[in-house]
Amino acid sequence: MAVKSVLRMGDPHLQCPCVEVTDFGDPALAGLIVDMFDTMCAEEGAGLAANQIGSGLRVVIFGFKHTPRYPDCPPIPETVLINPVISALDQEQGLAWEGCLSIPGMRGLVPRYKHIRYQGYDAQGNVMDVEATDFHARVVQHECDHLDGILYPYRINDMSQFGFIEELEKADAMAQAGLPCDDVGKDLTE
Ligand code: NI
Repeated sequence: MAVKSVLRMGDPHLQCPCVEVTDFGDPALAGLIVDMFDTMCAEEGAGLAANQIGSGLRVVIFGFKHTPRYPDCPPIPETVLINPVISALDQEQGLAWEGCLSIPGMRGLVPRYKHIRYQGYDAQGNVMDVEATDFHARVVQHECDHLDGILYPYRINDMSQFGFIEELEKADAMAQAGLPCDDVGKDLTE
């Protein structure tokens, strides 16, 4: 299996809704999942959606034990989630900076539900039904959005809070304070 190149925003694969997996025994599905983990690890992402490497199936992966990029984030178990369905457990939302492997070098401040339930299937076709909060919930929402052709910039309410990481960091250093938001969570790249 292999590290694949990650498609970038503008590629039509990232705009199209993906289709449900119907054959959990298909060796091509197992191969796709291995490629996704290889690619996510190589890119040091927190998650990846199948259409980011050109597949049209509703498959996402996410999770990490510890990474210096998110030193304050609790670990998220390595997860394969197929045909996901997300429901918000309440209407509370939080704002945090997100990045995406398909939009390298940029980040934006994105609102997401803080408490969600996600349902779907694992790689073997077993039913999954999980509740998640905060960063874990954010990662799942980001990845599942990909399967519907939605990239995080589409979710940004205030486009002044979107830009190149280098420039945002410069502005941040100049302000000697956080960027102008009082509810900024942890960075998410993927
Ligand atoms: Ni992404």
